[in-house]
Amino acid sequence: MRHLAIIIDGNGRWAVSRGLERLSGHAEGAKAVARAIEAAYEMKLECVTFYAFSTENFKRGTRETLGIFAILAGFLEETLLPLVQTRGLRVRFIGNLARLSSDLLTIISKVNVAGLNNRGMTVVIAVGYSGRDEIAQAINILIEQKLLNSDASPVTYEELSRFLYTANLPDPDAVWRFGGYKRLSNFLPLQTVYSELFFTEKLWPDFQKEDLYKLCNDFKKIKRNFGDLPK
Ligand code: IPE
Ligand code: IPE
Ligand code: MG
Repeated sequence: MRHLAIIIDGNGRWAVSRGLERLSGHAEGAKAVARAIEAAYEMKLECVTFYAFSTENFKRGTRETLGIFAILAGFLEETLLPLVQTRGLRVRFIGNLARLSSDLLTIISKVNVAGLNNRGMTVVIAVGYSGRDEIAQAINILIEQKLLNSDASPVTYEELSRFLYTANLPDPDAVWRFGGYKRLSNFLPLQTVYSELFFTEKLWPDFQKEDLYKLCNDFKKIKRNFGDLPK
């Protein structure tokens, strides 16, 4: 497996079932992300993506949104930045960053700068992410370029993919959703067309490193054909 993409659902339910505030579920979820990065590093994955916050999640209102942003900022500063420095991780943020808090934007650029020359595993954080918006903004850039160059040739997927947020990243080999639902919630629609899909009832804060070792093992047993005859 080169690239594993995780939909980290179930933080809220984890907290509520314990009589806690939803935000403590997000804080616990951040600790689970740290465990998952360690496990992915041990399994020598090239890339691991976390779906942290969608554009749809803004519907939850200011309290939850700003609470999640503060937890994410703390995680980036205290957990991810040290890993970028000690383990040579690369970090990519995908999404529309325009609506993020200024504190979050500050630490995002700090993490980006710190990992600039690294060659290790890539950690991708999808925040303010919408798959449909990603496609629309890529098409807008393409149209602009084509007009500038008076280029009337038809667009290919290869061209389009260069303007997706995920340009130059391998497509996810597997998408793994926690929290019991079997849906993708606007996550990487073009990049996951050939991904293996895994769903678990487990709530994200309950994630343990062993779960990831087992997933990689289960993945290895899958015969992938990509439309070809089985070899
Ligand atoms: C996933 O947990 C994290 C985000 C979407 C930000 P949820 O907050 O969606 O948790 P549930 O689904 O309400 O349990
Ligand atoms: C999916 O979780 C999005 C993220 C993990 C960021 P949601 O809790 O937002 O998904 P829906 O709304 O139940 O589909
Ligand atoms: Mg949810």
